[in-house]
Amino acid sequence: MKKKVIVSAPGKLMLFGEHAVVYNRPCLVTAVDQRMKAEVEVLEQPVFQLEAKDVSVTGYKKPMSELGKGDIPKGAKFAEIAVRSFLTRHSEFISGSSKLKGKMLKQVQHDNIGIRIITKSDFSSQFGFGSSSAVTVCVIKALSELFDKKLTDKQIFHLAYKTVLDVQGKGSGFDIAAAIFGGTLYFVTGGKVIEPLAVSYLPLVVGYSGIKADTVTLVNQVKEKADKYPEIVKSIYDTIEKIVNQAKIFIEKNDWQSVGELMNVNQGLLAALGVSSNKLEAMIYAAREAGAYGTKLSGAGGGDCMIAITPEMRRKEVEKAIIKEGGEIIRVLTNAEGVKIE
Ligand code: PMV
Repeated sequence: MKKKVIVSAPGKLMLFGEHAVVYNRPCLVTAVDQRMKAEVEVLEQPVFQLEAKDVSVTGYKKPMSELGKGDIPKGAKFAEIAVRSFLTRHSEFISGSSKLKGKMLKQVQHDNIGIRIITKSDFSSQFGFGSSSAVTVCVIKALSELFDKKLTDKQIFHLAYKTVLDVQGKGSGFDIAAAIFGGTLYFVTGGKVIEPLAVSYLPLVVGYSGIKADTVTLVNQVKEKADKYPEIVKSIYDTIEKIVNQAKIFIEKNDWQSVGELMNVNQGLLAALGVSSNKLEAMIYAAREAGAYGTKLSGAGGGDCMIAITPEMRRKEVEKAIIKEGGEIIRVLTNAEGVKIE
């Protein structure tokens, strides 16, 4: 059994379909080349240790028997619950487990297992690039490697998705899929469909609004709207679904003008759901006026990033226009590789 492994997973950008994807609709997501890295080590003492400086977690330590219990700092939740999800599913590794007998016992020679995790991210957790999901995926992939479990990508997806639902209660799992599979994906809620798109490059400009969005709050706000106006919100979701299906075809044809036009329509519907903001709108309109084919917010809304499909010859102008509105340009390449052992 290996003792230590380093795993990395990409961040993501939602291209089309946010919010609707929480309710059994499809979305399009791309993995970006800024990555989360996790060094995961098996210890001989039954302690859990975490160093995650990027999210202000240093010297975090607790007995393995306390995993998932007590007050867990925000920045530690996903890593800790990911370890718990893995060890609960594969309980042969837990001290005192009834399965720790016979054949299973041979895999782990001692029943005092601890885990140390050190994470480091290429990107700020403020961007909304999915750092929590990427950490979750890294930890589960690392543990499957260390305990020689050889989980398939689909199995990693389901375990990581369970972890995210345990921590935040809601979510489609699109960010988990991007971290695992990489590339650009057509994704339906809970991983019902995970289909890679035949595309190698997306002409995107990414602008960060400087405001951290709280995904769960925004998802709840949209739910309130849906509870009050069920028919209206349902028809918005239905239209978003049509946009996603049409955009998928245009992306595979590299018809960026049409992809951009559909982004503008998708943005209008997100504003109708109430998840846009003055700052995002200012950046979005400035980018359109500077020559982008189309722009929209990316993710839950309220802040985080906006994206602009931009002809190469207008890239500089679009970037300048976003900066003028107080945005920060984040340079990323899309279609990045999924989770991997470093
Ligand atoms: O805020 P982000 O970047 O995690 O995106 C959230 C996207 C939603 O559709 C609103 C939620 C989800 O889990 O799909």
